[in-house]
Amino acid sequence: MNKQSFREALLSWYNEHKRDLPWRNSNDPYIIWISEIILQQTRVNQGLPYFQKFSKNYPTVYDLAEAPENRVMKDWEGLGYYSRARNLHSAAKQIVSEFNGNFPHSHAEILKLKGVGDYTAAAISSFAFNQPHAVVDGNVFRVLARVFGIFTPINTGAGKKEFDKLAAELLYRKDPATYNQAIMEFGALQCVPKSPDCEVCPLKHGCTAYINGTIDSLPVKEKKSYDRKRYFNFALIKSKNQVVVEPRTGQDIWKQLYQFPLVEHTKLIEPGQMNVELEGFMGKTSELTFEKVTDLPAHKLSHQTIHCRIFEISCKGKLKLAKGSGMKWVNPSELNELGFPRPLRKFLDRKQLTLPL
Ligand code: ADE
Repeated sequence: MNKQSFREALLSWYNEHKRDLPWRNSNDPYIIWISEIILQQTRVNQGLPYFQKFSKNYPTVYDLAEAPENRVMKDWEGLGYYSRARNLHSAAKQIVSEFNGNFPHSHAEILKLKGVGDYTAAAISSFAFNQPHAVVDGNVFRVLARVFGIFTPINTGAGKKEFDKLAAELLYRKDPATYNQAIMEFGALQCVPKSPDCEVCPLKHGCTAYINGTIDSLPVKEKKSYDRKRYFNFALIKSKNQVVVEPRTGQDIWKQLYQFPLVEHTKLIEPGQMNVELEGFMGKTSELTFEKVTDLPAHKLSHQTIHCRIFEISCKGKLKLAKGSGMKWVNPSELNELGFPRPLRKFLDRKQLTLPL
């Protein structure tokens, strides 16, 4: 199907079938932003009362920024994915402090707001400012995969690239806002995931999947292995009855807990390689002696299995620890005051029997 016929059929379908949804009657970026954050991972019917509550209780970005966190969380109660509410609240403060309370206009700046990703930035910049950014959400993946017969899995880097490119080419640049609403609405109401009623679909004669009988197979999603295997190689560096620890930071398991300096790798590594890795962040390691290697029992989490190897290493002098890494020397007694991931805590508990370290 050519691009022009696709756009025309879509827009004319939308004109006839669109729902009257309150955020569609606004071009206030703040109101649109609230609606899009609420509608992430949430159906329209479930999100609607929350949108009404938020737009009534927090009519401007100042109202939201100045509200106490527990009130915002209370108003979000029942909607799930609570980090959305925390991000919403902190982005409101960001808008007040960094942008003087004016919602940013540029796509790049919108993308910097907490909790705003590619989809939401495209939605806000097109709906509020009619900028030519194509939205690509689950609905859009499904519509494009079917109409254009694309079997590239949508949850892979290659798939995202291919669909982003096609979506950008298809975008109706004279009216990006209406076009984006139209393609999402078409996916939500007509080109639904299960048993779509293709007989009444205005695109059926140009739809590759309809013609080839592959509607039920599209879009393709690559099965993710739900047992991701990870290999954590820890350096338990000891000197004068002290050991080096570091905090775990970033968005990952065991956030805020402490660990021994970690080398995560695609496998459990050998002492020679650990030595090289340590040189990478500690500099000269000639003063280190590798004493013992212990493999811990595999530690299963819901979607990953962690394999840990601990290298016990003694150090003659006091190593200089990398600045900014958060690494520090601690006494064995302090180890008990710090939170450690369960496998490391178990290891330490066993180790207590052979203190001093
Ligand atoms: N889902 C996410 N954004 C939406 C919107 N603007 N309209 C309808 N459904 C949506």
